[in-house]
Amino acid sequence: MNLVLLGPPGAGKGTQAVRLVQKFGMLQLSTGDLLRAAVKAQTPLGKQVATVMAEGRLVSDDLVTSLLRENLTAHLAAGRNSFLFDGYPRNLTQAQLLDELLVSLNIGVDQALRLVVSKDILMQRLCGRRVCRSCGATYHVLFGPPAKEGICDKCGGELYQRADDNEESIGNRLAIYDKEIQPLVEYYQAKGLLVDVNADEEADVVFPRIARALGSEV
Ligand code: AP5
Repeated sequence: MNLVLLGPPGAGKGTQAVRLVQKFGMLQLSTGDLLRAAVKAQTPLGKQVATVMAEGRLVSDDLVTSLLRENLTAHLAAGRNSFLFDGYPRNLTQAQLLDELLVSLNIGVDQALRLVVSKDILMQRLCGRRVCRSCGATYHVLFGPPAKEGICDKCGGELYQRADDNEESIGNRLAIYDKEIQPLVEYYQAKGLLVDVNADEEADVVFPRIARALGSEV
């Protein structure tokens, strides 16, 4: 199954992606993670996109689509055939580019799942998020704290706050999402692929809803 995961910043896309990968064996392709890895490694792409990302604006469709294409084709060549697209597409152009790309690779989108969360909850989630520098595991200071403050439970790595998890960048990211989401929703609705899941509650309550929406039980 190839699944597109839609939802605003802080909706829990990354959090639920971990569970989806575990249950359905898909490979998560998160454009946010790929871009952050490029920034961390200070590749030419990373240097080009660092400021745009920190300010909460979108990286150009061309750059992000070629990054996705490169990763997708490499994973297909390595024998993977089930993908979770997390953070891509983000606008109608990207949805059309994704379809063109998948058609050229003889695959397609089977479902588009949108996580729906109220705005005040998104703000709380993003302001309290902490991420492990080493393994990328995600925590929340209130809703999912590590056993020892500032230290990753899984690998002992240092936890940090993302450069775009500040009020100004969060405001930009939410505004962009609000502007771009409706055409995307209409695109997948017209194809009969869109499912909405209420993701206001805690992560372990949300996941069974997602599984059911995908026709499975937990
Ligand atoms: P990206 O990394 O995709 O960020 P985002 O869309 O802003 O989404 P987030 O990662 O902030 O949120 P999430 O939904 O994954 O939430 P999480 O599970 O972590 O993109 C970052 C940037 O990269 C963009 O702004 C842009 O610049 C660039 N970019 C990426 N893709 C692009 C594209 N296609 N085109 C152009 N530019 C692109 O959860 C958040 C917090 O809440 C965590 O602390 C978590 O523990 C907690 N939490 C999660 N679920 C729950 C729950 N149910 N209850 C309580 N707490 C919860």
